[in-house]
Amino acid sequence: KKVLVLNGINLNMFGKRDPKQYGTTTLAEIDTMLQKLGQELGAEVESFQTNCEGTMVERIHKAFHDKVDAVVINAGAWTHYSIGLRDALAILTVPIIEVHMSNVHARETFRHHSVFVDIAKGQICGFGAESYLLGLRAAVSAIPA
Ligand code: DQA
Repeated sequence: KKVLVLNGINLNMFGKRDPKQYGTTTLAEIDTMLQKLGQELGAEVESFQTNCEGTMVERIHKAFHDKVDAVVINAGAWTHYSIGLRDALAILTVPIIEVHMSNVHARETFRHHSVFVDIAKGQICGFGAESYLLGLRAAVSAIPA
């Protein structure tokens, strides 16, 4: 089982961003935790981060060709407005799990809306770094046998 974990704009700065919203864990530390959990769950986990929307879209196209089994995505601010990213995700036929460190629904109203949550299996938010681990578990469970 191959799970691709995608991280979008500004998420390489976790650890330096507002600790009230995002804690102090770095993306590298999250990746290490995901690798460990992936091993426990018998899933191969690959993580990818970019601040460029086109690069993210092209990584999603590659995921389509590579036939990954599930995608976990924290698209950062793109979540709230990128139709290009939504259209790329819509090409995939595998389960997509949307994750956020912060509880986006308890924040500014512009963060309440996700332009792709309706094509995701579900959304996990508000649990800090744990959101990713819950997201990986959800992704592995959602992969058809
Ligand atoms: C975020 C929430 C987004 O609203 C924000 O733009 C981010 C991070 C999160 O993980 O809580 O960059 O996706």
